[in-house]
Amino acid sequence: MPHLEKPLRLGFLASHGGSNLQAILDAIGSGVLPALAQVVISNNSQAQALKRAAALGVPGLHLSSHTHPDADALDRAIVDALRAHQVALVVLAGYMRKIGPRLLAAYPGRIVNIHPALLPRFGGQGMYGLHVHQAVLAAGERETGATVHLVDSEHDRGALLAQARVRVEPGDSPETLQQRVLTVEHRLYPETLRKIAEGEILL
Ligand code: GRF
Repeated sequence: MPHLEKPLRLGFLASHGGSNLQAILDAIGSGVLPALAQVVISNNSQAQALKRAAALGVPGLHLSSHTHPDADALDRAIVDALRAHQVALVVLAGYMRKIGPRLLAAYPGRIVNIHPALLPRFGGQGMYGLHVHQAVLAAGERETGATVHLVDSEHDRGALLAQARVRVEPGDSPETLQQRVLTVEHRLYPETLRKIAEGEILL
């Protein structure tokens, strides 16, 4: 299993905007996070995340069912790319595909994700994007938040590593809540990775 030594070698999987990716790259750039961004992999060739990587000279790869129609071949290609870039910790940043069994086996306890709610509540099948915030509002919750957790074969079920809370305000819509939670994610994710890099959180 790859060692988690400083600087922590990160590999990212992202599907869309990559605002969390950007927050982490910024934390690396400013010296707050002792890590190296080794590679950004996206299943979406048009992902903003790939553009953000390119802007900072971080290698970017498009690996998807278009490049690899066979799911097992895709899973293998992702593992090969992460290994080729000497990635020690895999960071999911808005990655909309299920993680394959080869990737899980290659990086056991070495894949982290951020979810826009206080897991174990409001996680699992169908709980992504605005659906999460709609569900929180429909349940009449007074607070929500963000969770960084380890990824295993179950959706949103791995060990919780860190959480941050966000108040639900009267008049919140799913969109306003999503935005406030996202702002908190941008602080929580780099901070949690820093704690992993510094050995304050042991994986
Ligand atoms: C975030 O809300 C994150 O919690 C979830 O996917 C979204 C990614 O947003 N896993 P971005 O691509 O980082 O902007």
